[in-house]
Amino acid sequence: MQAGAGGAVEYNDTVVRQFAVMTVVWGVVGMLVGVIIAAELIWPDLNMGLPYLSYGRLRPLHTNAVIFAFGGSALFATSYYVVQRTCGVRLAFERLAAFTFWGWQAVIVAAAVTLPLGMTSGKEYAELEWPIDILITLVWVTYAVVFFATIARRRIRHIYVANWFYGAYILTIAVLHVINSLEIPAGLTKSYPIYSGAVDAMVQWWYGHNAVGFFLTAGFLGMMYYFVPKQAQRPVYSYRLSVVHFWALISTYMWAGPHHLHYSALPEWAQSLGMAFSLILLAPSWGGMINGVMTLSGAWDKLRTDPILRFMIVAISFYGMSTFEGPMMSIKTVNALSHNTDWTIGHVHSGGIGWVAFISLGAMYALIPKLFGKERVYSTRLVEWHFWVATIGVVLYVAAMWIAGVMQGLMWRAVNADGTLTYSFVEALAATKPYYLVRFMGGAMVLSGMFIMVYNLWRTVRPPALAGQPATAAA
Ligand code: HEM
Ligand code: HEM
Repeated sequence: MQAGAGGAVEYNDTVVRQFAVMTVVWGVVGMLVGVIIAAELIWPDLNMGLPYLSYGRLRPLHTNAVIFAFGGSALFATSYYVVQRTCGVRLAFERLAAFTFWGWQAVIVAAAVTLPLGMTSGKEYAELEWPIDILITLVWVTYAVVFFATIARRRIRHIYVANWFYGAYILTIAVLHVINSLEIPAGLTKSYPIYSGAVDAMVQWWYGHNAVGFFLTAGFLGMMYYFVPKQAQRPVYSYRLSVVHFWALISTYMWAGPHHLHYSALPEWAQSLGMAFSLILLAPSWGGMINGVMTLSGAWDKLRTDPILRFMIVAISFYGMSTFEGPMMSIKTVNALSHNTDWTIGHVHSGGIGWVAFISLGAMYALIPKLFGKERVYSTRLVEWHFWVATIGVVLYVAAMWIAGVMQGLMWRAVNADGTLTYSFVEALAATKPYYLVRFMGGAMVLSGMFIMVYNLWRTVRPPALAGQPATAAA
């Protein structure tokens, strides 16, 4: 607990601390599984013939772990922290907040058990079976109650823009999850969606794309709008732009989902609508990016000395890059080349590692020492090492996938004069292998950065008794 503005408010930082620690733990686990599946794509025998370790089962484990366990914990931690500070009140409903922590961890553990066992609904990013879906709904509704009740009890009249982004993410994910998970149980571990055919595909990608838009984007923009100004010790570049950014972004994202279903059974007009809205989306996305980067105006020199700020600025740059690339990939003729290739995987990880992971890591470096009553992190030099290892790693990852993706697209569509295919699928696969090796090395670097972080944070927060000092002296 910590005294708030004027010393009057006792914040509930217990739940923030719990989620912050688990962010780091799940970050290591999720990225480790990522490195393992990257290795399995090069050396398939690594699964040792065990179904639990097969690529098909570990892949959804990776996506669930990095998005919902790592990203989700970072969002819970920071939203609970930010809403208290910007509303000038303690978090509402202590016990409900505690339930969100234990409930969310239970969801993650259930995912970690059921996915390797092969229990899946088969819907990407919504693989968990119906009993876990019900638990997710309970946790999420409780999260919404705690967050919005805290806003309702606020002492500061103005609702800071970060809370608008967090609020939109919480509400939208509730709606997306419930509608996309409507299914008919066929036993405890199997269910079938109530939708079928093209409708099922459309609902799934309405969900999938908005999971990107609201889970992987809006929530992390909330993080950006609080932690970047704090770390740079500058006000947001343009508060007006942040409000325009918010409304433009949330009203556009909802319509862009069909870009995942180009050239499918979905009606042509819906595909074109998805493409048009994806192109429009470039404007609010870049508005937000510019607002984030320009918040540093007058404080650029801080980038030289503060690697935490560097994590955040590189994150915003990757956000800009992936939100330029996304609209380009949604153009049907470009998508005809990129779809199903590793180009998509490159795009995903410039967003997932470059944006989501980097902004979360920056926020955790800023937050965790404070939550444990320390002034700063144990070693800035080690943060610097983490920054460089992870930055080189993500660049290797993404560049390898871009090259591999374009190459695959071109090889698949190459035809001879007589109309036969120039390359067999296996030839394209063999040509991809060296790039998978580079991706594996890049991923391993990103993961090793996480180990540096664990060591650094452990040295920052470890109790004095474990540091070999008498507790009183250290105090
Ligand atoms: C203006 C913003 C964006 C647009 C218009 C956009 C557009 C696209 C397009 C066209 C695809 C390829 C669909 C396909 O061919 O199957 C795609 C895939 C994807 N994008 Fe984006 N993107 C944007 C931003 C982002 C960001 C910031 C992230 C991550 C933080 C992200 C995560 C993903 C993921 C995870 C997929 C893969 C989905 C799948 O097939 O499993 N996108 N995006
Ligand atoms: C050490 C870091 C990481 C490594 C080595 C890694 C590796 C991988 C690999 C090998 C795949 C499967 C690609 C394929 O099927 O061809 C994958 C998929 C995916 N990863 Fe990662 N990953 C890492 C970090 C992350 C992070 C931090 C995020 C997001 C926060 C993320 C989100 C995803 C998503 C959404 C997919 C599915 C993409 C799709 O279906 O189009 N990954 N990752």
